[in-house]
Order: sequence, then structure tokens, then C-alpha cells
Amino acid sequence: MLALDILTLFPDWFAWLQDERHVRNALGGQLELGVHDMRSYSELPHQAVDDTPYGGGAGMVVRVDTTVAAVEGVYGRSLDAVRSERRIIALDARGRRFDDGYARELATAGAITLLCGRYEGFDQRVLDHVATESLSLGPYVLAGGEVAAMVVVDAVTRHLPGALGHGESAEEESFSPALAGLPEYPHYTRPLEFRGWEVPEILRSGDHGRIAAWRRAQSERQAAGG
Ligand SMILES: C[S@@+](CC[C@H](N)C(=O)[O-])C[C@H]1O[C@@H](n2cnc3c(N)ncnc32)[C@H](O)[C@@H]1O
Repeated sequence: MLALDILTLFPDWFAWLQDERHVRNALGGQLELGVHDMRSYSELPHQAVDDTPYGGGAGMVVRVDTTVAAVEGVYGRSLDAVRSERRIIALDARGRRFDDGYARELATAGAITLLCGRYEGFDQRVLDHVATESLSLGPYVLAGGEVAAMVVVDAVTRHLPGALGHGESAEEESFSPALAGLPEYPHYTRPLEFRGWEVPEILRSGDHGRIAAWRRAQSERQAAGG
């Protein structure tokens, strides 16, 4: 069972995610998903959550006090209590790189909160004292943490029991331990031939040993960049 909360300035964006098939499959079973509007916990005029940066510069910064108000408001407990009960993950381009191992780790974490940044990002004190860790999708900058949060929910949910449909499995996928961390081998289905593009003969051979060896070689070739 994974209790996953998202704190965002754009809660409406997550409606489609909750309707996504494998997320929907997991909801009410292995996944409890909450989406919370950070702005609704702000006591500042106009429910502001951001301010201009000390030291000057362009853009606005998400404040630490409004972030703490949102975390404490959502859980009705002190920040320290919340930090001791769940992983609070700030989405941040400089954070720990998200990969299959990280997704599997979060699937068994029990309780997670994702903090979505906006503008120039969070006041550093959010990263130092509110979040228990930072997560990055990669070395590039998104406009906000929402898309990153959706990627995390999508990838993590695939590892929850019952999320995938019958006959699907997250066990033998690209980068999984079952494939020794390698990319997955190519898949083919009907038609056998299309515009001269043929399905490799070996996949039609019925020789499971040779097929397994071919798939392994394909994964290794892709890992090597070929
Ligand atoms: C415009 S970005 C801030 C970029 C920041 N000034 C920098 O240079 O790293 C606003 C928010 O988007 C999210 N974000 C941007 N890139 C991300 C990435 N690669 N991974 C995860 N979150 C990201 C974070 O929540 C961030 O606070």
C-alpha cells in the first residue's frame, strides 16, 4: 500500500492522471493518491505562495513558510512529525536522478509526498529543512514540478501489485533487475511483413533458447548504443 500526496499550485492538472488505467487500477487498492492545492493553505494576501528573491534576479521563489503551512495543513501535524512518517520529495532539477531503481524503492516506501516547485523553484530552506530528499527527472529544466510528479506517479504505480492489467508485468521491462538493468529487446507482432519490413526470422523459429539469446544480444547492443 502506497499513500502518495502531491502538493501543487495546479491541482486540476492531475485529473487525467487519476483516470489513467494503471493508476485507476491501483486506486482504492494499493494506491491512495491525494492532490492538494498549496495555495489554499497560505495565509498571505491573495493566498500568495511565492516572493521575489533576496539578492535580486529574475523570477519568483516559492516561499518556505507557505510550503510548511501546506505540509502541516494537509496532515494536521507538525513538520517534524510528518518528516518522521513519510518521505517528502521536492522535485528539483538538481536532485537525485529518477530511474527504475528509484521508482521501485518508492513503490515500497509506504508514504510519500511530492512537492511541485514553480517559477525559479523553492527557497533553499524547503530543500534543506522541509524535504527529506530531492528528485530530478534529468539534467534539463521543466516549467514546474507537475509533469515530473506525474512521471513519478506513473512509473512508481507500475510497481504496485494489481496496477497492471492481466498478462502485463513490470518485472521484465527496460532497466529492470530481470534484464540486468539493460534496455528491453525489440518486440514485433502481425503483420509478418509490411512494406518490405520483416519480422526477424528467429522470432518465428519456435526455438526458445535461441530467441532468449537473441533478445539478450539485442538488449546488450542497445545498451552499447547500437
Ligand atoms: C523553472 S523550474 C526552476 C529551475 C531552477 N531555477 C533551476 O535553474 O534549476 C521550476 C520547478 O520545476 C521543477 N523542475 C524543473 N526541472 C525539473 C527536473 N529536471 N526534474 C524535476 N523537477 C523539475 C522543480 O519543481 C522546479 O522547482
